[in-house]
Amino acid sequence: MCGIFGIVTSDEKELGPVLIEAAQRLTYRGYDSVGAATLSGSRIDLRKDVGRVEEVAARCNFSEMRGARGITQLRWATFGEPSRVNSQPHLDSDGDMVGAHNGNVVNNFELRQQFIAEGMIVRSENDGETCVHAVERYINKGYEFLDAIRLAYGDLEGDYAFVIGQANDDKLYAMKKGSGLVAGIGEDFTCLSSDLPSILPLTRQIIRPQDGEIITLWADRVELRSVRDGSLIEREPETVTESMDAVQKGGYPHFMLKEIHEQSRVARELLHLLDGSHEVETILEKIRTARHLYLIGCGTSYHACLSGSVYLAQLAGRPAIPILAPQFTPQYGPAVGHEDVGLFVSQSGETKDVLNALETAESRGMAAYGIANVIGSTLTKAASCWLPLCCGYEISVPATKTFTNQVLTFLYLATRLAGLDTRSLQAIPDLLDETLEMTAPQIQALTPVLNDWDDMYCLGYGATLSIALEGALKLKEITYAHCEGMLSTEFKHGPLSAVRQDYPVIFVAGPADIPLIISGINEVRVRGARAIVIAEPDPRLEANASQVIPVPKSDPHIFPLLAVLPLQLLSYHMSVARGYDPDFPRNLSKTLTVD
Ligand code: AGP
Repeated sequence: MCGIFGIVTSDEKELGPVLIEAAQRLTYRGYDSVGAATLSGSRIDLRKDVGRVEEVAARCNFSEMRGARGITQLRWATFGEPSRVNSQPHLDSDGDMVGAHNGNVVNNFELRQQFIAEGMIVRSENDGETCVHAVERYINKGYEFLDAIRLAYGDLEGDYAFVIGQANDDKLYAMKKGSGLVAGIGEDFTCLSSDLPSILPLTRQIIRPQDGEIITLWADRVELRSVRDGSLIEREPETVTESMDAVQKGGYPHFMLKEIHEQSRVARELLHLLDGSHEVETILEKIRTARHLYLIGCGTSYHACLSGSVYLAQLAGRPAIPILAPQFTPQYGPAVGHEDVGLFVSQSGETKDVLNALETAESRGMAAYGIANVIGSTLTKAASCWLPLCCGYEISVPATKTFTNQVLTFLYLATRLAGLDTRSLQAIPDLLDETLEMTAPQIQALTPVLNDWDDMYCLGYGATLSIALEGALKLKEITYAHCEGMLSTEFKHGPLSAVRQDYPVIFVAGPADIPLIISGINEVRVRGARAIVIAEPDPRLEANASQVIPVPKSDPHIFPLLAVLPLQLLSYHMSVARGYDPDFPRNLSKTLTVD
């Protein structure tokens, strides 16, 4: 959450447009407010406000900003409400230093009290400002800039990345503790950013700083030093060859729709990779001999863990405990040990809740493995070994293709563990495409009908419970309607009282559960509900439901992978029809690096 970008150029120029474009590429990390600062000689031009990049850049006229150094920041609010004063970057007391951060400084409150007592001017409640004053404190005590940053690093608790510059200088400085930061080297500039994709349009020569390193950017070089003793760290730049097509919309109106349609391709790539992966062997071996197996994630990734748990038990007879990452430490932390195995699942590989659980697991001697999409993320470095999701960049805040590949990874592992032939999974990519084609017209027709409602249920059973929960999460996330996901059999234990004329209840009916689902359908229909069923074509469902959305025939374990697609499409179309931007739902951020 939150994104920072900084650039140092050889000559003074119009940096505004460069900062706007970088900010647009970082939008997915936070869009509560946007700010930009340029530094030119003794002058710091700082402009910022609440809103999305395009609005704020136009309102504050970012495009006219000039300088040889520039910083921009996208905020996802934690410390301090979204407001102009809490927007980043921030100045120090005298206004001759400017800095911005992403992440979370957890001793923000205490430090602010100290700075105020020390006579500094603290303007906001935001922890990005705290980072600036943490450096100012040591400058006031007479330290050189680099040493002041080193000492500030010791005072700032939490996970963050921070960039700062001062007037009458030709450099920017940055440091990182737990949050992502990448530096880039171009022809006549250097830059740094919270993520790699925002740098790639500018340069392919990059350096990846580690925690505990201070980065100094000159226009023609990048230097790394240890925060411990200031010693120089040698690290050669690497050349990134990845294509940038992945971060363009490719003709689709939104990233989400593009990513929904990429699912067959990424599933095919994943299956190919898993077939040749040594890590799969290592993980399977550990799963076989583990005392207890935990599947750990948050949000959509947790729903994939639920699918994994069902697959491992149903196919391979291997019980696995799915658990929301923040609950792992209090519930299982005291009970786990070196005989246990944890699979930590995360698209970003940076979710703090997941990394906290990983820390607990490792401190208790548990074997910890990752399933992640972002290569080089903290999870991929911290886990003993990990499996990539092979999805490329997922820009849209709602996860779609990464969910499919998480579930597919679990299905693959369970199939292998059961000693079954994974060639049966090769049909999945084509089935995904067929599903999109088959369900799209009905979903579009259903959109205005469901958009009359701000409250609905999505019910599943067995292997489709996770799909119902995921569908409900997607609907909530981007339509802002309330949709509750639930075990279908639980509905009669209370929520049934919500049903009235035409009330929408969506059932996800796996091929093995049709008779049970038919009971559920009738329970709601006799009370006036509109029962919409996602299922394989089946005359029994046609006879009982208000509407069936058929998906291609497969089997009870492949079906959930197909059934989630119409729910993704439904959320997307409902969101767009309501006038929202499904890629960037309000209040959310793609990467949640805070507790
Ligand atoms: C999914 O649509 C959400 N954006 C969210 O629930 C997400 O899955 C969750 O924050 C976990 O993120 P991760 O997979 O990057 O760890």
